[in-house]
Amino acid sequence: MFHLSYPFPNLQVPCWNWDPVLPFLFKISIFFAFFLCYATHLDPCVGYLEISSLWRNIGFYSTSFSGFPLCDSGYSGQWIRLTGIGGDVMPEFCIPSYHCGGHCPLYLGFSHPNLGDGIKTGNAYCMWKGYCGEVVLSNTQVLACPGGYYVYNVPSIFCQVTFSAMHSVCNDTSCGPLAQCITGACICQPGYLAPAMILPTHDSYCCEGKCDSAF
Ligand SMILES: *[C@@H]1O[C@H](CO)[C@@H](O)[C@H](O)[C@H]1NC(C)=O
Repeated sequence: MFHLSYPFPNLQVPCWNWDPVLPFLFKISIFFAFFLCYATHLDPCVGYLEISSLWRNIGFYSTSFSGFPLCDSGYSGQWIRLTGIGGDVMPEFCIPSYHCGGHCPLYLGFSHPNLGDGIKTGNAYCMWKGYCGEVVLSNTQVLACPGGYYVYNVPSIFCQVTFSAMHSVCNDTSCGPLAQCITGACICQPGYLAPAMILPTHDSYCCEGKCDSAF
């Protein structure tokens, strides 16, 4: 007697039935899709806001444009990255009041971390009433990212505090047309002016002649 069915009792149902499993797999994959999305936004090197306004450059000084003083309280507690003509890093030294579009330009009170150091926490400051460090913004966080840039998170920014920015490396085009970059600061080429009564635009820091009507 030869019992073919003995070791294979289920030969009548040769294929696995996927029907009950598919909705489950579907739910699992939706879950992981959400999780991945969430996780990447938790990574500050990915989920940051880009801030590119050139008036945040440490070389920008004007108190007479319409809209002065500006305020960065909207970026309170957010991871931000500085980009563009304004610069890519926060300065680690005191910036005089009324630079960078507001009353109180924010600078770091500690050195930037290196890649792999993780989040570095310390105080950011701004000058007020003639004193560097008069205004303290504690728990300021800085992280060095794999792309060679930094992201910053300053909790409880209030008015009229603004971020200040400078170029970590100056080249001929850092500050845009008609401007030059000197130790991270944007200044106009000889013979050109930064507008006083209106904010400079995104692609040009300086202009010729009647700046305020030309912009
Ligand atoms: C010049 O510097 C700016 C930032 O300051 C950068 O975006 C740009 O790529 C640099 N250009 C060259 C040619 O290195």
